Amino acid sequence: MHLPPNVRLSGSDYPVFEIDHPTCKARVALHGAHVMSWKPRDEDEVLYLSPDSVYKEGKAIRGGIPICWPWFNAHPTNPDAPSHGLARTRFWEMISAEEDENGVTMRFGMEEGIWKAEVTVKAGLELEVSLETLNTNEIPIVVSGALHSYFSVSDIGNVRVVNLEDTDYLDTVEEPTRRKQKGAVKFAGEVDSIYDSSGKVLLVDDDSGRTILIEKSGSPSTVVWNPWLEKAAAMGDLPDDGYLAFCCVEAAIANDRAVIVMPGSSHVLSTRISVEE
Ligand code: BG6
Repeated sequence: MHLPPNVRLSGSDYPVFEIDHPTCKARVALHGAHVMSWKPRDEDEVLYLSPDSVYKEGKAIRGGIPICWPWFNAHPTNPDAPSHGLARTRFWEMISAEEDENGVTMRFGMEEGIWKAEVTVKAGLELEVSLETLNTNEIPIVVSGALHSYFSVSDIGNVRVVNLEDTDYLDTVEEPTRRKQKGAVKFAGEVDSIYDSSGKVLLVDDDSGRTILIEKSGSPSTVVWNPWLEKAAAMGDLPDDGYLAFCCVEAAIANDRAVIVMPGSSHVLSTRISVEE
């Protein structure tokens, strides 16, 4: 496997690519083609990674950017299918790793049955993750999913997600209910909301003086999630108070907005993350 000078492979049973480039430090696991950490030059870590995360084939990493694909959350028809799809619980193939003065670009692929995908991670002063669904079949396929980004925050109580104001969303904490967002999204309890995409750049502010910017494309839905105390305590791979340290803002394709990919064509879901002081 050829790696450029600023990328090093650690681990053999569970390979992790360690990027140490003049523009950023980052870690990407082969399992799930999963960005575990990204720290642009002169900035603090941007992604949250649970200290209790389990690194084992078949188990999704808790934190970073899980690739949820080819469906989002529960499978639309099969209750036995794994939540959030097939991609986050298996090893991918590395296709290529390159670097230039702007950062490191790594490509990964996976294929199972009718499903074929490629993930491209560009890590530099910005982080871009793109998930391409390729339809190599003779029939159309229907795909949903998410780039389930966990952002590190000073304290969830200080967080405001901006630019979803006046957007319609489905609140799924209890009986799914359609609502309209009033003001910035704040967290004072469990949040599990699927917003219609507005096309605006989304901002995560947490009073730390740093703003995280999220630019999505190919994403008709934005999911905002925090499990809060009780659900966090019930999760074996998250400390009881772990929910205080992150919020998820996900470039998503929710099931009701699933994309039809025609034979011979593809769909790209991507998120571009940057920070501003
Ligand atoms: C979010 C969903 O995207 O992921 C939530 O909206 C879900 O409903 C959460 O609980 C975490 O899922 P998991 O499978 O990683 O625990």
